[in-house]
Amino acid sequence: METLLAVLFLILGTASAHICLISPQQRGQIDISTSGSRTCFKHGFPCGGDAPADPQFILQAGQPAFIKWQQNYNHYEVGFPGYMDISYGPVNSTQESQWTVLAVVSDKYVFSQDYQENYTAIVTIPNTPCDHCVLRVRYNAHKAGEDTFYQCSDVHVSSNVRHVSPLKFPLTDSKDKALRGAAQLTQRKNNPKNVNGAESFYGEAYDPFNPSRTTYVQIDPTTGEKTSIKKMDFGLDGGNSQAGDTKYIADAVVGVDPVGKSTVFMFHGAGSLDVIPKQLLEIGLSNGSVLNTQNIPALDGTTAINGLAYVYPEHYLTFSLQEESAKPGNFYFVVGMLDHTGGWKMLAKTPTTENLYVNYQSMVFNRGKNLLHILMGNENAADALNARIYTFVVTPSTERFQGFRELDVSSFTFMSINVYEKTGQILAISPGLFTDTYPSYSLVEINPITGNVTQIMKVTPPGIFEKYYGGSVVNGLDQRTGQLKHVFRVADSEADVIASINIDSQSVTFSQITNLRHIHNIVHVPATP
Ligand SMILES: *[C@@H]1O[C@H](CO)[C@@H](O)[C@H](O)[C@H]1NC(C)=O
Ligand SMILES: *[C@@H]1O[C@H](CO)[C@@H](O)[C@H](O)[C@H]1NC(C)=O
Ligand SMILES: *[C@@H]1O[C@H](CO)[C@@H](O)[C@H](O)[C@H]1NC(C)=O
Ligand SMILES: *[C@@H]1O[C@H](CO)[C@@H](O)[C@H](O)[C@H]1NC(C)=O
Repeated sequence: METLLAVLFLILGTASAHICLISPQQRGQIDISTSGSRTCFKHGFPCGGDAPADPQFILQAGQPAFIKWQQNYNHYEVGFPGYMDISYGPVNSTQESQWTVLAVVSDKYVFSQDYQENYTAIVTIPNTPCDHCVLRVRYNAHKAGEDTFYQCSDVHVSSNVRHVSPLKFPLTDSKDKALRGAAQLTQRKNNPKNVNGAESFYGEAYDPFNPSRTTYVQIDPTTGEKTSIKKMDFGLDGGNSQAGDTKYIADAVVGVDPVGKSTVFMFHGAGSLDVIPKQLLEIGLSNGSVLNTQNIPALDGTTAINGLAYVYPEHYLTFSLQEESAKPGNFYFVVGMLDHTGGWKMLAKTPTTENLYVNYQSMVFNRGKNLLHILMGNENAADALNARIYTFVVTPSTERFQGFRELDVSSFTFMSINVYEKTGQILAISPGLFTDTYPSYSLVEINPITGNVTQIMKVTPPGIFEKYYGGSVVNGLDQRTGQLKHVFRVADSEADVIASINIDSQSVTFSQITNLRHIHNIVHVPATP
């Protein structure tokens, strides 16, 4: 009998295995390929019995860092759920009070102990440099018969790694960038603030099972929490075409008038989906009220408006592809001016047609230099993402095409551009190359004269976020504060975060983890000073 118990205990002992710290990678060995890995099974304060190792990771003091771990076995206790936490402390600590808890995630009832799940938390690293400190994850399951599990990673915390990378967070195994994270809600949500003059985001929530409608929502910049403002009686891209209701706004064609505090969309009122959206729809930026709908009589019925850029109150520059009737498949690029009464006139047009770089992506107006830049992709380079930047001069008295430049996309590819008026820089957020699966994102500068694309800074570490060319925010560069907003998707999860990238100081902060997958046309409204 005694032998049998001993054998049973031994089997349980080797099969039970519970938490592993993936990034920054834990001391000692790690193998998370199967549940019950013995590398995830460590008990005992402070670090599960492992001696300190030389720090392999540099973190930036006072800055956010992404901590990724795996619950390698689940020990949920019904009636007294446990938790996992991330803490930070000195090397060679002797008591628990030396540790600071940075994040806590409650345990989840998954009805099965043999269960693996990856978690990602954003924490803020304490603002004090440290040659050798420790990041620790614990799993205190409250489960009868289970002691707390520990894993530690040795880190170096510096206040001066900004120019190397704000989040230099290397995975030791550079081959395994495929971090499949099921990110969890790790921070408590506060009620969203909708204070007048405060920074905010707005967008249209889309429900594919109710395609006749969208909901205008506000998004809190800190918590990421969404608040419904107004139900709109139109859909997005096609509307409820199956039911014959084709009232919709065209996705991703948005102009924001900061003076009139309104947003302009291209609207398809009714009829066949083969008819271009020919109306302007203007809504109140903070309340979603429909302020204005106007037909645009000057649109010839074949030339859609692909892009809008605000120029001055009630006026928007437009971009269109105009097919040459005698040469199908060949297009002039046309820049026009739209006003909110529905008036439209052509301002300038390329002198020759183009049949390859006809994939419209993004446009920005550089107010200081009166230049309109348009990013066009090569229609036959879906992976290489070859691109050109086309430039038009637009002043009250002159409008003309200035030329285009092929961009160097050998290291950085992107689908949208911004302009920082203070420096005149054209900026983009890039995941690197299309082939990078779990990329590190960078802020890059695009030179429209040489075509050079240069990295300014790394924005996110590798391994955490999905490769996704969306995520740009309309009006996302706050010209007063020099902050660029961008939405990142946590890989293999439903979670998103909004990054605020400070261009001048080259630092990044993140919102709490939220979910914005169904919110389209996210518009940034900066705080009014
Ligand atoms: C931690 O303890 C080890 C072993 O006693 C020692 O070699 C090391 O110098 C200590 N580190 C610090 C930072 O005190
Ligand atoms: C957790 O992430 C690792 C990469 O670090 C990946 O190989 C593994 O499949 C993921 N596991 C789960 C359960 O998502
Ligand atoms: C909605 O916002 C717009 C633009 O700020 C404003 O003109 C309009 O009066 C507002 N409507 C309501 C009902 O508050
Ligand atoms: C642009 O890039 C090319 C090739 O990398 C380099 O030779 C050139 O100096 C760069 N030009 C500028 C203005 O940075």
